[in-house]
Amino acid sequence: MGSLQQHSTSPVSPISISAAAMGASDRPAISNDHPLVINLDHGDPTMYEKFWKKAGDEATLVISGWETMSYFSNKDNVCWFLERGFEEEVRRLHEFVGNAVVDGKHIIVGTGSTQLFQAALFALSDPNSDQPANVVSSVPYYSVYPVATDYLKSRLYQWAGDVEKYQGEGSYIELVCSPNNPDGLSKQAVLSSENGKGKTIHDLAYYWPQYTAITAAADHDIMLFTISKTTGHAGIRIGWALVKDDEVARKMIKFIEMNTIGVSKDSQIRAARILSVVRNSHDNSKIVHSVEESFFHYARRTMTERWDRLNEAIKSSNGAFILADFPSQHCNFSDEIIESHPAFAWMKCEKEGIDDFYGFLKKHNILTRGGEHFGVEKKYVRISMLDRDPMFDIFINRMSIIH
Ligand SMILES: Cc1ncc(COP(=O)(O)O)c(C=O)c1O
Repeated sequence: MGSLQQHSTSPVSPISISAAAMGASDRPAISNDHPLVINLDHGDPTMYEKFWKKAGDEATLVISGWETMSYFSNKDNVCWFLERGFEEEVRRLHEFVGNAVVDGKHIIVGTGSTQLFQAALFALSDPNSDQPANVVSSVPYYSVYPVATDYLKSRLYQWAGDVEKYQGEGSYIELVCSPNNPDGLSKQAVLSSENGKGKTIHDLAYYWPQYTAITAAADHDIMLFTISKTTGHAGIRIGWALVKDDEVARKMIKFIEMNTIGVSKDSQIRAARILSVVRNSHDNSKIVHSVEESFFHYARRTMTERWDRLNEAIKSSNGAFILADFPSQHCNFSDEIIESHPAFAWMKCEKEGIDDFYGFLKKHNILTRGGEHFGVEKKYVRISMLDRDPMFDIFINRMSIIH
């Protein structure tokens, strides 16, 4: 998502309406030169509302006043605040999609995967070490990693930047985001963890079939997922970690206990319901009937259409704006050869005299996030591809006439 205050919409023009303020059905009749500011800075996944409106009652949940009152969900589980129904749906969905190995793994629920990221840093650091663990990632890295790592000025860990330039002596934690936010590319760990000094955290928020080909079931020590990017329910604030090691799992759970004494049961129950609709939309005739197409089919089709439109729109820039090419790969889930359609467009400006691409697009009332937040030059920007249709339409119209 991003550091909200740092990147929030500023009133740069007479009309500054954030995309989130505009409902999915409010299709604006707005011309390209209208001063409406469109905010594609955050990866707010409101695009998915369309599907969930169709799902209607199938995805609706009623929780009675007397329910979910206890702190505890499952005293027999080391993750005592994990709702059984949520755990079942997480395992069921991963097995169905084939994107991660769940057997033999602890499932830890978090208030978004952002909390789990911090829990993992805590669990992988050595409290008895004189030196904080160095936290590294390859550029361009998710802009939240440096900010969240150093936010509390912890003595346990500290941000150390680009993994390729890392030459530190002490212990390190490598963050591997794959497919990567912001550029959508598949990533692997750069540093070897065999010397015992290094640990990895795999952030697999976007390893779902609408964004990329599922080429194998990921089987890493710590894997983070989030419902925000799986189904679009960022507001529920639910993420989960798949963790191999008992001790690491225990420490992560302890962190969440100290931080928020567990995770909202209401949110977990709702997340379980949403995940079950996703799974069932692929073969339960009643749900198939109401949503018209399965969830991953809908999401993949929408992403494909959006990327086709963006690629077409920037053709008129005659090479001034550049997007990465993605390799086509066989997707085990859909059994097709497919291209990646990431949640963000990572665009470079080759236009002469423009070094600050963010500033350039801002003048055209398009808010993005500049490359410097991701450890690279200002010639790059990250643009959310997950906003509602009306905002995306305006964005495409503007991109097709900006040179
Ligand atoms: C790579 C990555 N990890 C984690 C998150 C945050 O997920 P959550 O909403 O579950 O905190 C995001 C959100 O943009 C993300 O892009």
